[in-house]
Amino acid sequence: MPDTRSKKNYKVLIVDDSIQTLEVIQRNLNANGYDAYTCSSVRDAVRFLMESTIDIVITDFKMPKQNGLELIRHIRDNFYDIEIIMITGYPDIEDAVQAIKDGADDYLVKPFTDDELLLAVQRMVEKLNNRRFVESTAKPAKTYGIIGESAKMKHVFHRIEKASGTNATVLISGDSGTGKEIVARAIHYNSERRRKPFVPVNCTAIPDTLLESELFGHVKGAFTGARDKRDGFFQIADGGTIFLDEIGDASLNMQGKLLRVLQNKEIRPVGSPQIQHVNTRIVAATHKDLPGLVGKGLFREDLFYRLNVIDIVVPALNERSDDILSLINYFAHKFSNEMNCRLPVFSDNVINALKRYSWPGNVRELENLIQRLVVMLDGHQVKTTDLPESMRFNISIRQAGKQKLNDVVADHVLNILTITKGNKTQAAKIMGIDRKTLNSKLKKIENKSQDY
Ligand SMILES: Nc1ncnc2c1ncn2[C@@H]1O[C@H](COP(=O)(O)OP(=O)(O)O)[C@@H](O)[C@H]1O
Ligand SMILES: [Mg+2]
Repeated sequence: MPDTRSKKNYKVLIVDDSIQTLEVIQRNLNANGYDAYTCSSVRDAVRFLMESTIDIVITDFKMPKQNGLELIRHIRDNFYDIEIIMITGYPDIEDAVQAIKDGADDYLVKPFTDDELLLAVQRMVEKLNNRRFVESTAKPAKTYGIIGESAKMKHVFHRIEKASGTNATVLISGDSGTGKEIVARAIHYNSERRRKPFVPVNCTAIPDTLLESELFGHVKGAFTGARDKRDGFFQIADGGTIFLDEIGDASLNMQGKLLRVLQNKEIRPVGSPQIQHVNTRIVAATHKDLPGLVGKGLFREDLFYRLNVIDIVVPALNERSDDILSLINYFAHKFSNEMNCRLPVFSDNVINALKRYSWPGNVRELENLIQRLVVMLDGHQVKTTDLPESMRFNISIRQAGKQKLNDVVADHVLNILTITKGNKTQAAKIMGIDRKTLNSKLKKIENKSQDY
């Protein structure tokens, strides 16, 4: 989560009737970069809050006259963007429970150490950041309607900008569902060709027998059944952009024909003696590793270089978890508007689970999930239990009651490996062990040895 403000700017108000407590906490917070203010009664605090903008309130529970609970209720009724920590003595733990019900965000039991206090405040800062970040990204960004603030997506936007200003051929690569097609559309609609057609063609879907007439059209009587003259995709996209999706699936026959168009800017409709000049820009996309296919002789090297003039790599969703929150928000707004449903609220647990999930289907999978959640929403909050099982990370925790410790460890190790897509170095880092230990655990898991 980007911490857009330095700690220095977080304003904390401490409310306690003991001057000594106020001083101790204030000193601790100031020393750690927070702006800390103090009030010694609920009445003072209410007045102070009217005049200043406070991010976090730390309040004692037991105070003469009005108690902390009343301050919490006052804040919840009048302010939206303040986090509250309540301080309570051990015998009054039930009051803490009531305080949380009334809107406190956390509580500290006396006596607490400086570090415990700082940790609690830090958690509140993270919560505030989370919420403010979601709100700041609730509207679609001006980046061609493509959502994303991660460094990797910024790089993609930069490439789109560059590609839009030229007529050069573009090759977009990335896993399925990462947004290759919307990147292609963004290039077209941001270019001077925007008033002419954008024509998507799925290379997988064209049978070889129809290939030439689909791409280049045909004249009347060119073949049996060709009763009228018909334009092909290249003529339809004349002046505009043809989007060759799944170019990695193009047959060698098709590759040869495409290469000729790229070299000569000319096409010949089936059955026509005449060559036609076309001004069609080519943008291609693939989820396959084209250089790999070139190596195996399945993709023409000359075509690859012709296509790959400007290359854009769209990162997988699990490489840009910074974008997940804004995507969730964007789709939630989109679908609740479109389907006239209530806008769901996502609990912190749900957001964390979604951030941890590996998203093999990328943005398309996330989009489908949010749509389903919006439609199925019961009440207004999405809970972890509303998520598909595969997303409720750490399966081992759910079953822990019935599992042997060894199995829990094995589940955990395998879960983490799934998340890192088998990357052991990364997995070991997440689990705080070294690669050697991980390897030895894996060996024991494989052999079902009794002791991992
Ligand atoms: N960054 C994004 N912001 C908003 N919507 C996105 C984004 N990336 C993908 N989508 C949506 O996800 C779905 C899949 O995107 P698409 O471009 O078809 O992926 P691909 O062509 O890579 O398989 C589409 O509905 C698209 O609108
Ligand atoms: Mg696609």
